[in-house]
Amino acid sequence: MGPSTVGKSANILVTGGAGFIGSNFVLEWVAGGGYAVTLDLLTYAGNRANLASIEENSRHRFVQGDICDPEVVGRLLREHRPQAIVHFAAESHVDRSIVDPEAFIRTNVQGTFALLEQTRSYWAKLSVPERRAFRFLHVSTDEVYGSLRPEDPAFTENTAYAPNSPYAASKAGSDHLVRAYFHTYGLPTLTTNCSNNYGPFQLPEKLMPLMILNALEGKPLPVYGDGQNVRDWLFVGDHCSAIRTVLEKGRTGETYNVGGNSERANLDVVKTICRMVDELKPHPSIGDRSELIQFLPDRPGHDRRYAIDASKIGRELGWKPTVTFEEGLRRTVQWYLENTQWIENARTGAYREWICRNYEGRVAR
Ligand code: NAD
Ligand code: TYD
Repeated sequence: MGPSTVGKSANILVTGGAGFIGSNFVLEWVAGGGYAVTLDLLTYAGNRANLASIEENSRHRFVQGDICDPEVVGRLLREHRPQAIVHFAAESHVDRSIVDPEAFIRTNVQGTFALLEQTRSYWAKLSVPERRAFRFLHVSTDEVYGSLRPEDPAFTENTAYAPNSPYAASKAGSDHLVRAYFHTYGLPTLTTNCSNNYGPFQLPEKLMPLMILNALEGKPLPVYGDGQNVRDWLFVGDHCSAIRTVLEKGRTGETYNVGGNSERANLDVVKTICRMVDELKPHPSIGDRSELIQFLPDRPGHDRRYAIDASKIGRELGWKPTVTFEEGLRRTVQWYLENTQWIENARTGAYREWICRNYEGRVAR
């Protein structure tokens, strides 16, 4: 009889494990004694170098492939026989979803559907104890809940879905599919809805690493709108520990909100980054980095505020974040200061093209 929970040494399949959060998760999983196979298409957002430190580790295998491809996924499941799937693979950047929504529907909706179908057929052939011990953990976002006003309470698991961007709508669609596979087929699913992450290995097209690198290099810091949009920031290591907790102890069919209780307006985040970069890497000719801030016309449909009520995962499973915003940000700035080769490799042609496309036509106000 197999183990009844997904413990530290379990054998798992991780989709999107060469991306930002996925790679942090896989590195920690393997370091903790677990076995993992990573399935990643290596889109512009995937970077095999993120997993370089476990390239030779016998407890990890990397497979380049598409979650939309039933043959690849089916074969991998049959050969690798994971006890759990942790599903990170997605198109994840809101700005890109505004410019090119189709890729989001393909990977996030159709890809999750294809993965669920393959999982269902693999799971149906397992022994009864193996079926009971199996878990499909879907990694989702707080953006499915839409936008809050300043006086609104934070999102709970019961907040109605109201996605506003093509990205959020595609993630909401995938969440609904996961829910349906639990209710219709009994597939033992779990869903986490997490707030904005930051930390090592995040592609510098997202707010934090973009601002850190631009500040370091004395380039303009492009803040959308009035900079008063609020996000609830969580250090990536805390997100990974939440996922491990839900895998091990979560009740199947449930969703868990994950957040850092760290609401900050974008402008405050950028100013804090400027202060830290000034302190850690002063530059006489650049001077005070906050003077590099430029206000750009707003992102269309820009959600005003996200905030997560993470009391369910705390109360039921005993998880809480351990890294404060100041501490996490300092570690992140330090990481980008130390990993210049990684940064150079991450800024590929596709990356540069995106930066031109998104910023060059936007005139500072
Ligand atoms: P990311 O864009 O850094 O990484 C996504 C990874 O998925 C990349 O390695 C990419 O190559 C891979 N991928 C894309 N399409 C694929 C496909 N068709 N088949 C296989 N692999 C594919 O994203 P991230 O920021 O690490 O986010 C990971 C997950 O966490 C996503 O599902 C996202 O919605 C969710 N999430 C992210 C945040 C955040 O702040 N970044 C917050 C909450 C939830
Ligand atoms: P982002 O990292 O794209 O995450 P999300 O939109 O999923 O929350 O952006 C975080 C916030 O920062 C969001 O309110 C948009 C804002 N932002 C800027 O002001 N300028 C930028 O150049 C970027 C990329 C984001």
